[in-house]
Amino acid sequence: MYVGIGYDIHRFVKDRKLILGGICFDYPLGLSGHSDADVVLHAIGDAILGAASLGDIGELFPDTDDKWKGISSQILLDKIMELVWGKGLRVNNVDVVFIAQEPKISKQKKEMERRISELLKVEPERINVKATTTEGLDSIGRLEAAAAQAVVTLTHNS
Ligand code: CDP
Ligand code: ZN
Repeated sequence: MYVGIGYDIHRFVKDRKLILGGICFDYPLGLSGHSDADVVLHAIGDAILGAASLGDIGELFPDTDDKWKGISSQILLDKIMELVWGKGLRVNNVDVVFIAQEPKISKQKKEMERRISELLKVEPERINVKATTTEGLDSIGRLEAAAAQAVVTLTHNS
């Protein structure tokens, strides 16, 4: 069994779609970033890369490369999974926490888990999405940003 950790934070801005865990949210602000800034998928991707000893998302998809500009993080996760499967590994389970004052994601958590499970090709029961606020403290509490932390375990295929 291999364990990996991932953390990411993005700034809220106007005129961007908010995409979390591959799901589009109806919210007046989106997250800024080179890709679609799906902070949940970025934390999961980094945790997967960590468990597989494959570096991190920034190394694989540099924000200086226009190839990745505005790209869906679901495509980045697809590419990460190709590398993981290529090493004879698969995802055992994922636990991710979304950290934001707003929006509340409770109603969409199951949909996010299902989408993530499709991307990683595992049963939805192996994916857990949680959320917490920072109780109005810090930049996240001031609605300036949203963050995510993930832990992933990988196992050998055979
Ligand atoms: O301290 P605790 O995380 O229990 O409380 P909280 O930060 O006030 O969050 C209460 C609940 O709201 C959490 O258990 C989450 O399930 C939910 N929540 C959410 O759906 N979306 C967020 N952005 C933050 C919290
Ligand atoms: Zn990111």
